[in-house]
Amino acid sequence: MIRFIEDPAERRKISRYILESLREWFEVDESREGYIEGSADWPFWAYFEGDACEGFLCLKETGDKTMELAVMGVLKTSHRKGIGRRLFAAARDYASQKGYEFIQVKTVRSGMYDDYDITNAFYRSLGFKELEVLEDYWDEANPCQIYVMSLKSAVNTIASRHSYRGTYSPDPVPEDDLLTIARAGIDAPSGCNKQTTDVIIVNDPDTLSKIKEIIDPPVARTAPAMIIVLTRRINAYRDRCFAIQDYSAAIENMLLAIVELGYQSCWYEGHITDEDRICDRIASILNVPDEYDVVCLLPVGRAVEDFHAPSKKPVTERVKFNSWS
Ligand SMILES: Cc1cc2nc3c(=O)[nH]c(=O)nc-3n(C[C@H](O)[C@H](O)[C@H](O)COP(=O)(O)O)c2cc1C
Repeated sequence: MIRFIEDPAERRKISRYILESLREWFEVDESREGYIEGSADWPFWAYFEGDACEGFLCLKETGDKTMELAVMGVLKTSHRKGIGRRLFAAARDYASQKGYEFIQVKTVRSGMYDDYDITNAFYRSLGFKELEVLEDYWDEANPCQIYVMSLKSAVNTIASRHSYRGTYSPDPVPEDDLLTIARAGIDAPSGCNKQTTDVIIVNDPDTLSKIKEIIDPPVARTAPAMIIVLTRRINAYRDRCFAIQDYSAAIENMLLAIVELGYQSCWYEGHITDEDRICDRIASILNVPDEYDVVCLLPVGRAVEDFHAPSKKPVTERVKFNSWS
């Protein structure tokens, strides 16, 4: 499992243990000691199998929107188990949730040493792109390859979206941002282009309080804005109604736009469409016409608490090439 390490002494201990075992990459004493010392101050994740630490990764801030993957290492005996990938996913989520837009990483460029070729291939497989090679940054024998990754790509936004159920900052969400989010929703595909999904943006404090009061058990009590999703259950053709698919596509688009703009949310559908039909009471507060149903509520606001990805089954269990077996 991955743990975020707070204690500087534990950070130093872990980075020393791992880096001293990876002499192929960290053979120069002075630079290795520099990483160990630096790691005490940087956001730090470690991977544990039981009590045994098998790898770690640190980020450091290099600009107000930029972080650097400052150092990482995984024990050689634990390579090819996906540990580096999982450490990076935790770090990328953190950077994204804190509003950073780019991550860079430096390594010795490909074609110099076999071990570094593996490192280059690993960074590229994570989605890093070659930015520039600085021939003299370290020395002639070690040209420095800088890689960069935008955290704002669709793929990264998808990967860093997780349901947020914590407290929101009271800061209002600008109406332009709310409109951008709503537009992302109605830009979604719909069966036969019937456009069965509409949304109501709620940012008026009185209306928000009326909605929050009737949600039991309470959710999103601190959210400064909400998007209420409406569906019109009409047929796309013959007796085929795609309204559920239509609003699901719209909701996912909006969740991604919310994360992309630096806010958080959660798809609240079960909560409001259960037997107590909170959705109908929300519809009545918002004067929703009879032909529409309220199906989902998306809070929008900035997160004030840290949160993490829920565990998901491994890709290999759910994704196959060409046939089931
Ligand atoms: C159709 C649907 C209904 C959902 N309803 C609720 C809900 O009522 N309350 C809630 O806390 N989360 C709800 N969720 C969020 C899921 O619990 C969440 O997506 C899931 O646990 C996976 O976590 P992730 O979104 O962080 O990947 C709903 C999600 C979907 C797709």
